[in-house]
Amino acid sequence: MEEFSVLLHRACTPWKGLLLTASILGFWHMSTTAHKTTVSLPRQVVEGENVLLLVHNLPENLIAFAWFKGLTNMTRRIAVYTLHNNFGAPRPVHGSRETVYSNGSLLIENVTQKDTGIYTLQTYNRRGKIASTTSMYLHVHASILGFWHMSTTAHEITESLPRQVVEGDNVLLLVHNLRENLIAFAWFKGLKNMTQGIAVYTVHNNLSAPGPVHSSRETVYSNGSLLIENVTQKDTGIYTLRTYNRRGKIASTTSMYLHVHENVTQPFVQVTDSTVTGHRSVTFTCISPDTDVSIQWIFNKKNLEITERMTLSPSKCGLRIDPVTREDAGLYQCEVSNRFSSKTSRPVFWS
Ligand SMILES: *[C@@H]1O[C@H](CO)[C@@H](O)[C@H](O)[C@H]1NC(C)=O
Ligand SMILES: *[C@@H]1O[C@H](CO)[C@@H](O)[C@H](O)[C@H]1NC(C)=O
Ligand SMILES: *[C@@H]1O[C@H](CO)[C@@H](O)[C@H](O)[C@H]1NC(C)=O
Ligand SMILES: *[C@@H]1O[C@H](CO)[C@@H](O)[C@H](O)[C@H]1NC(C)=O
Ligand SMILES: *[C@@H]1O[C@H](CO)[C@@H](O)[C@H](O)[C@H]1NC(C)=O
Ligand SMILES: *[C@@H]1O[C@H](CO)[C@@H](O)[C@H](O)[C@H]1NC(C)=O
Ligand SMILES: *[C@@H]1O[C@H](CO)[C@@H](O)[C@H](O)[C@H]1NC(C)=O
Ligand SMILES: *[C@@H]1O[C@H](CO)[C@@H](O)[C@H](O)[C@H]1NC(C)=O
Repeated sequence: MEEFSVLLHRACTPWKGLLLTASILGFWHMSTTAHKTTVSLPRQVVEGENVLLLVHNLPENLIAFAWFKGLTNMTRRIAVYTLHNNFGAPRPVHGSRETVYSNGSLLIENVTQKDTGIYTLQTYNRRGKIASTTSMYLHVHASILGFWHMSTTAHEITESLPRQVVEGDNVLLLVHNLRENLIAFAWFKGLKNMTQGIAVYTVHNNLSAPGPVHSSRETVYSNGSLLIENVTQKDTGIYTLRTYNRRGKIASTTSMYLHVHENVTQPFVQVTDSTVTGHRSVTFTCISPDTDVSIQWIFNKKNLEITERMTLSPSKCGLRIDPVTREDAGLYQCEVSNRFSSKTSRPVFWS
């Protein structure tokens, strides 16, 4: 029996109708095929984030692929995606929080700790046979609040200032309610690994000693807070504060997750004039290496009003004025922004 026949005759119905039925359970087996499809994961996943499970090296000539939660329980499928032209052009398949893309990748939005577990991707070739099976483990870490509840001895609450951190920022990991009668406290990176110490602060002499992963950018204060200057995306991760009481025992352990968002780079504006038999037009192009940014045009320091002589390219990175007139003379700038940062180009004077 062909593994994929169950799907074949149902393939033109919407995706919900394509979900594998229990009958496919019968031919589940751990694939012995040599094809190395791999799935990569973000390094740290925290509750509330959107997670993209990136698929690399998907086999060719596939008819479909399916994502499952778990290793062998085919009833816990997430979605089936059919690729063959007869079954419609590839398009994202949407579940409630999951989106499957034509390249195999799976997006899970707003993850919770319940999403922790094994995920399996199975691909099917044109003969309806399993072409590859790839399983991976996704671990969703608790949010700051979660860590706080986890530790019954927690007294301290940590948070980052600013709340949303972008590359280049100075960040203060604020500690509220640091307990009294401590001999020392220590900050380290990660959850448990004390070899990743940033600094230890001894209370009796108000001195801090750098740990193995200390760089010149961290400062520990007597109230427990940790300042990290000029953060980069490499600073993303879990930070743990551990306090020690007068008997030298651990008094509390508090962890938090710091996410450093990408900072957009400054764009620049390129101008292309064109005059053909006295007819003059101009095209401004906003050049930015960043993807997934929105673009706003600025004329004489104000948001540009689009007139009927102006055309914007779909991504707004191109602005064409045709015909161009004397009233269009002035300073042009573009501003690129993502959710967390924005930058404006240097002005370009056009006359
Ligand atoms: C498979 O998952 C379903 C739904 O989560 C569950 O009811 C069932 O008991 C599982 N079967 C096995 C064999 O684990
Ligand atoms: C697959 O498609 C998604 C959505 O378009 C994209 O974000 C992702 O980078 C792609 N994966 C690979 C491995 O290219
Ligand atoms: C994410 O999940 C939380 C709790 O499960 C919920 O309150 C919130 O509205 C969700 N956000 C989105 C964008 O779905
Ligand atoms: C982004 O980078 C610039 C320097 O290029 C820096 O001044 C700024 O603080 C950074 N952060 C944000 C949020 O823009
Ligand atoms: C701790 O000290 C630092 C540096 O003096 C200060 O910026 C911060 O606000 C203090 N934290 C709290 C919670 O008061
Ligand atoms: C602790 O961190 C060090 C340095 O990053 C690493 O070499 C070691 O494998 C880690 N140990 C554990 C148990 O994670
Ligand atoms: C240590 O710092 C605290 C708070 O800033 C201060 O009250 C205390 O006097 C200092 N102790 C010494 C020995 O300098
Ligand atoms: C942070 O970056 C600024 C500008 O690049 C630099 O002047 C400053 O010395 C840096 N601070 C640290 C602690 O590295």
